[in-house]
Parts: sequence; structure tokens; C-alpha cells
Amino acid sequence: MELIIGKNYEDMSKSAADIIAELIRLKPNCVLGLATGGTPIGTYKELIRMHIEEGLDFSGVKTFNLDEYLGIGLDLQKPYTQDQSYARFMHEELFKHLNIKKENIHIPDGLAKDPQKFCSHYEEEIKKAGGIDLQLLGIGGDGHWAFNEPGSSLYSRTRVQPLSKQTLEDNFESFYKKSGIKKEDMPHFAITMGVGTILESRHALMIANGKKKAEIISKALEGSISWEVTATAIQLHPGKTTVILDKDAASKLTWTAKE
Ligand code: F6R
Repeated sequence: MELIIGKNYEDMSKSAADIIAELIRLKPNCVLGLATGGTPIGTYKELIRMHIEEGLDFSGVKTFNLDEYLGIGLDLQKPYTQDQSYARFMHEELFKHLNIKKENIHIPDGLAKDPQKFCSHYEEEIKKAGGIDLQLLGIGGDGHWAFNEPGSSLYSRTRVQPLSKQTLEDNFESFYKKSGIKKEDMPHFAITMGVGTILESRHALMIANGKKKAEIISKALEGSISWEVTATAIQLHPGKTTVILDKDAASKLTWTAKE
């Protein structure tokens, strides 16, 4: 595993964007796995800057997002605050600023009539695209990868998953509270790529920042592999693995303290 510790959030974001951009330049038709949440926003901003100022070309790039809430989907007629879909997030924070082709963007369909069938279809689409070259990952407060909540099998595939109490709490604090939505009206289920699906990516790139992620990062990287913290599966990733942190998120790692 390669561990990069940046000075701050901007540093972390820039290093992550540089790795993604290098792949796009080397393999213009690469397949990227993408994440939502607060952590990757800086990385996406930097990729957008590279596209505008340096001509980084996304026209051949294919993307697969990790997850989507069940019961909601992209509604561009609604203001941003009323459409909490991850599809909307990706559109606003990344895709609308790039020359990526619409047909190359894949996001789990939260409005699928038959969600279980959709999950198998999503797995097939990933296979058809030749697998994921690079999967960008954040980490949840409870150690989840995508929405693989504690108790998810480390062999799990794309499926419907109930959200944990902590994830509901985190999501409420970080987003829903501001948009005036009541806790009980938040989606309680999601479609998520499985841990097994993620582990098949050729390069796993996990990013985390801030003191509030320090404890869970130390568990994920240095703790025992367990379905209680699904991000510990990073220790099992057979391909290339890169973890990029800021100083705060790295502050509880014992390895780096020894250096
Ligand atoms: C979202 C996803 C989640 C987030 C995690 C951290 O697509 O995969 O696992 O990465 O919940 O979220 P933030 O970045 O908001 O702390």
C-alpha cells in the first residue's frame, strides 16, 4: 500500500486528482469508480480545473458510481437542496463541468422498478466495460465503504442495503438538516456496490481528511480485518492500493508516528 500524507485538504485533493489525471492521460478510455460525499469535492474541483485549463479529456472515460439512495433519482427541475440524489450531486459537482459523454456515466438507479434486478445489471455493466481501473473511495464514520455498513460481507456484491444508525445521523448532520428535511423522511436504504465488487478494481484510491476520520482510518489501516469496519477490506485488495490523508486524518496511525 502506498500512503501519502498531505498537509491539508487541498493537498490531499490535489494528490488524488493528479493520480486520476495520470491514468486518464495514459488510458483515455479508462473506467473510473467514483464516490460522493464531502471528501471528494476538492478532488473533483481539481479535475474540473485540469479539464478547463489543461485540456484533460474525459470524452473516452467511463464512470461507475458507488451508490445511490433508494427511492430518489435525478430531478433537475428541483433546486439542488430538494434533490438529494447522488446522481444530482455528481452532475453538479463534476459531470456538468466536463466533456464526459452521458452514455458513459453509470450511477445506481434509486428509482429502479426492480432494484435487485438492477443490481445484477449494474454488475454486468461493470464487467462489460472491462472492470474498474481506478476506484475512488471515501470512508464513513462507521468505517463503511460505499454503503457497505457494518456487518456487510467482504465478498458482497452490488445490492440493496439498509443504512446504519450512524450513517443516518452523519447524513442528517452533513446535508439533510440544512435542507429542512426531517430525519424520519430521509431514505433508510441504498443501492451500493459490494465490498467484493470494489476489491476487483485494479487500483483502489482511498481519501480521508479531518480529525473526525482519524480513529476510523487507524482502524481501517491498522486494525483487524472485519466486517464491522468494511474499509478494513483495503488490507485485502490484491491490486494497487493508495491511501491519501491529510495530517489530521493520519494523526492516529502508529506506523507514521514511528517514522
Ligand atoms: C459515498 C460513499 C460513502 C462516503 C462516506 C464518507 O459515495 O461511498 O462511503 O465516502 O460516507 O462521506 P464523506 O466524504 O461525506 O465524509
